[in-house]
Amino acid sequence: MLFFNVIAPSKSFSSAYYNIQKGLAAVERVNEVLDNTEEIRQAPDARPIHTFEKEITFENVGFRYNANGEWALRNINLRIPKGQVIAIVGTSGSGKSTLSDLLPRFHDVTEGSISIDGTDIRQLNIKQLRGLMGIVNQDPVLFHDTLFNNIAFGNPTATLDEVVNVAKIAQIHDFIMNTPQQYNTIVGDRGSTLSGGERQRITLARALLANPPILILDEATASLDSKSERLVQEALSRVMEGRTSIVIAHRLSTIQYADQIIVLKDGQIVESGDHATLMQRQGEYAKFVGLQWMQ
Ligand SMILES: Nc1ncnc2c1ncn2[C@@H]1O[C@H](COP(=O)(O)OP(=O)(O)OP(=O)(O)O)[C@@H](O)[C@H]1O
Ligand SMILES: [Mg+2]
Repeated sequence: MLFFNVIAPSKSFSSAYYNIQKGLAAVERVNEVLDNTEEIRQAPDARPIHTFEKEITFENVGFRYNANGEWALRNINLRIPKGQVIAIVGTSGSGKSTLSDLLPRFHDVTEGSISIDGTDIRQLNIKQLRGLMGIVNQDPVLFHDTLFNNIAFGNPTATLDEVVNVAKIAQIHDFIMNTPQQYNTIVGDRGSTLSGGERQRITLARALLANPPILILDEATASLDSKSERLVQEALSRVMEGRTSIVIAHRLSTIQYADQIIVLKDGQIVESGDHATLMQRQGEYAKFVGLQWMQ
């Protein structure tokens, strides 16, 4: 009897010890994540920003993901006047997404500075800074929820009228009206029941809802069929109207109309200018166009 009475408690001792170890490991991991998210901090005397008036400037910007790692970007000098469309092109891994992530401060520059209307973005209120931007990522994420909620995401007070309005501009309204429950139709996990073009147009509508002065679009690399391509193209040109846009472009149709095209190679700007100028130069950009923009 004594023997059996001792076995159970001693077993729970060892499992308790194991649980403590597990708990400690989890705490370590949680701290790691918490420490990481603190990397981007708001300056204690941060200035408010509610409007974008004149220009965005990148001055000698350099960036690396790890202190001793490779430079993902180097010597980036760029001036984006209000109202312009800037297209960024370059091969996979050249630093396009990294460059566009610096403006909303998803990362901070390692060298140099980025300013909006003359103020370094590190001195601005972060929430208000990001509030100036509508961002559409390369791999748009949809939620297992209704089409309405997927567009209204982030704007809890949006009305049906407002959602329909942006859906029309983003060329996705007609598609939604043809689904079984229209705006109440539930999309599958991560939007798996929709095509790439449809997903991008839904996230475009989402980005538009806040009517931001600056748009950052990381175009999907996946190729679209010609009908989707045309719809996305029409949506883009309407969406960019009256805004300042930074577009990471994989489609010739998008970049041809850009005011400025920036060609990135290994994290550096190797060419810039408009389509006609760059075609004439017969350099990197012309090579891309020759490849029919396949990548
Ligand atoms: N979180 C990260 N940590 C470390 N290195 C990264 C990280 N994200 C990107 N990189 C590296 O930085 C470089 C630039 O990557 P980036 O994502 O900006 O390329 P890209 O031009 O957007 O490519 P793609 O056309 O494939 O989207 C690459 O060498 C990439 O491996
Ligand atoms: Mg990218």
